[in-house]
Amino acid sequence: MVETGKFIEEAVAEIQDEVGDSHAIIALSGGVDSSVAAALAYKAIGDQLTPVYVDTGLMRKGETEQIRKTFSYMESLEVVEAEDRFLDALLGVIDPEEKRAVIGEQFIREFEREAKETDADYLVQGTIYPDRIESEGGIKSHHNVGGLPDLVDFDGIVEPVRDLYKDEVREVARALGLEDIVAERMPFPGPGLAVRVIGEVTREKAQVAREACHVVEEELEEYDPWQAFAAVVGKGTGVKGDNRVHGWIVAVRSVESRDGMTARAQELDWETLQRIQSRITGQNENVARVVYDVTHKPPATIEYE
Ligand code: XMP
Repeated sequence: MVETGKFIEEAVAEIQDEVGDSHAIIALSGGVDSSVAAALAYKAIGDQLTPVYVDTGLMRKGETEQIRKTFSYMESLEVVEAEDRFLDALLGVIDPEEKRAVIGEQFIREFEREAKETDADYLVQGTIYPDRIESEGGIKSHHNVGGLPDLVDFDGIVEPVRDLYKDEVREVARALGLEDIVAERMPFPGPGLAVRVIGEVTREKAQVAREACHVVEEELEEYDPWQAFAAVVGKGTGVKGDNRVHGWIVAVRSVESRDGMTARAQELDWETLQRIQSRITGQNENVARVVYDVTHKPPATIEYE
């Protein structure tokens, strides 16, 4: 566990020391890691920091409004509406790692433009300890670790939470006074809903996944999962009236974990599962089936791609 008061004081001093009178930029995702990194950096250098939130069209339901609200005290906040550009770039892309690459590249393009416009010399990132370990081990490509620093010519990278585990970041978030909705937030993958949609990402699939994820998050809050979400995993047959229809299959996943490296599927009661099923099929008539994933990590990963 981390001594939050001391940690904040030291992190603020380190950021001030490093950035000095220069300008810094940070990509906000709405997650606890980048929110804490941004709050620390803002505390250290105020409006010398430009927080940039890119709406990729693959974010959680209501994310953009949430960001505007949480960070309304940062006058320099920039919201980039880039949904069309991301979804166009993803058309026809099926391979999971290629999807990550396309999203990473598009993200860099969006972010680079903002960095140039603000003349930022420093990049602040919300990288945490497990991100570094998984990236070094080549387990997955994190667009918040690779890419940005290589392509945009920054004088330095500042990673104030680089040595913390997720639960420690949450403690710091609470100590910084970030609202519970941010401090207690489940992790959300960098590529967003793209890894919760198997195969090609379309507007429709992203929307089904987004609405279903919202239902699952709401319904499972009391189970306090590490992550709980839904994914669009394919199509299957259902019935509507007297007709057989081909509709979406939505998988629900809820896991316990400390750091995401291993995870256990949670045991949920039948009524909760049925409520989730009925809300998801009820909100979208094109969903034919809802299934619950009982697989731990390993052998499965947490996300579907
Ligand atoms: P997996 O699916 O590999 O996920 O068991 C472990 C944790 O990492 C998140 N995740 C990602 N985060 N970029 C990210 O920033 C990614 O490409 C990515 N893929 C998975 C996942 O949500 C879980 O918390």
